[in-house]
Amino acid sequence: MTVLAEDWQCRARQLAQGLIAAGKLWSAPWQEALCAVPRHELVPDVLRRDPDGSWHRLDTTTPQGQQDWLEQVYSNKALLTAAADCPGPQSLRSSSSMPGLMTRMLEALDVHDGHRVLEIGTGTGYNTALLTHRLGDANVFSVEIEPDLLELARQRLARLGYHPTLVAGDGAAGLAEHAPFDRIIATCAVPALPWTWVQQTSPGGVILTDLKTARGAGSLVRLTRYPDRAEGRFDSTYAAFMDLRHHPAAHTPQHPRPRRQPNSHPEQRTTTLDPRTPWNCLVVWFLASFTLGPDIAVGYGRPDQNGNPTVTCLTVGDGSWAEVTLTHDQGNHHVREGGPRRVWRIIEDAHALWITLGAPGWGRFGLTVTTDHQRVWLDTPTSTHTWPLALPGPLTPDIPRVGPVTGGSTSPTPLRPGQLA
Ligand SMILES: C[S@@+](CC[C@H](N)C(=O)[O-])C[C@H]1O[C@@H](n2cnc3c(N)ncnc32)[C@H](O)[C@@H]1O
Repeated sequence: MTVLAEDWQCRARQLAQGLIAAGKLWSAPWQEALCAVPRHELVPDVLRRDPDGSWHRLDTTTPQGQQDWLEQVYSNKALLTAAADCPGPQSLRSSSSMPGLMTRMLEALDVHDGHRVLEIGTGTGYNTALLTHRLGDANVFSVEIEPDLLELARQRLARLGYHPTLVAGDGAAGLAEHAPFDRIIATCAVPALPWTWVQQTSPGGVILTDLKTARGAGSLVRLTRYPDRAEGRFDSTYAAFMDLRHHPAAHTPQHPRPRRQPNSHPEQRTTTLDPRTPWNCLVVWFLASFTLGPDIAVGYGRPDQNGNPTVTCLTVGDGSWAEVTLTHDQGNHHVREGGPRRVWRIIEDAHALWITLGAPGWGRFGLTVTTDHQRVWLDTPTSTHTWPLALPGPLTPDIPRVGPVTGGSTSPTPLRPGQLA
């Protein structure tokens, strides 16, 4: 298909202007890169998911279809670009992240001419192209777990005249043969920081990644490399990337979906905490995840006669579970809990702690990573409020099916079902 240069260039400029106005893009070199890189050349195929869970490709064979595709490509949207032929959220293999999130991350990366940057998660190569445009072929390195996606990105980047070093493999190992790097940027989420990334970052260098202790629990964190550790704060705005996978084509959960402990006799009580709270305020969910553990299945169930769910259901790795009614009687929601631990009590405690701490947003949290421990802290690394990360943390497979996400939160962009950056 032919796209006129003046057409995509005009769209790219409009996208850049929108991001500047939204405060997601500010420096001249990244503005220039955004206007110069033809995103459509790197994202020729955009996928949509049908209600039955199957995928279809956006039709670009008609003039209208081509306009729709270009509209998507030059808008501030994450585009789903590769999927495995299996049902469920795990079938998503790759996406091109929201341009506004990428520019926010690139700005936060604070690169300077001559910096060597390692990217984890090449995907379509769009972000790789922005980096290469800014820093040159010799300074950009990118690792992708899926060899076929990497090959496509390599061909498309080469057609645009970009020749960064592209490697197929598990980015968790970094890229020792080309280390050290001044910057490492990961466009997938890790449950804990791979120590290899710290080792491969120059002193004073920066690592920027999404850290998720459980599905939706965590956000972008920017760490500086010190001689003995990496340390830094979470970004104040929420972001969510797809999980880092350790094997290509690993589209089934690394850990089985938690199952309710059989024959666990439920206890019943009421709660004044709205079951939507953890999704409306993901910091609460983050705090709860340190106790609940990484394997958490969240969904909605017990549909009424119109098919609308009436309860939130949570199940965690040890088989403990809770169901909380979405409706309430004078502020009291009904709770049923079973298994060895009281899941909803843990979330209530996390919420109470969050209130006691002054309802902190993401920007008040930080992370310290050393060879033998990783811990999240509040306000300062020496704070008495710290939470150790499980090493290595398994990845969680489940996401809410229906998103009761409304209202304010410390997270400007609350998690929606299946939402990825
Ligand atoms: C959000 S997408 C990438 C977005 C990409 N930066 C772009 O602009 O298109 C995340 C990518 O990380 C890749 N990925 C997942 N686990 C990985 C790993 N262990 N090492 C390298 N890449 C990985 C996925 O296959 C996927 O392509």
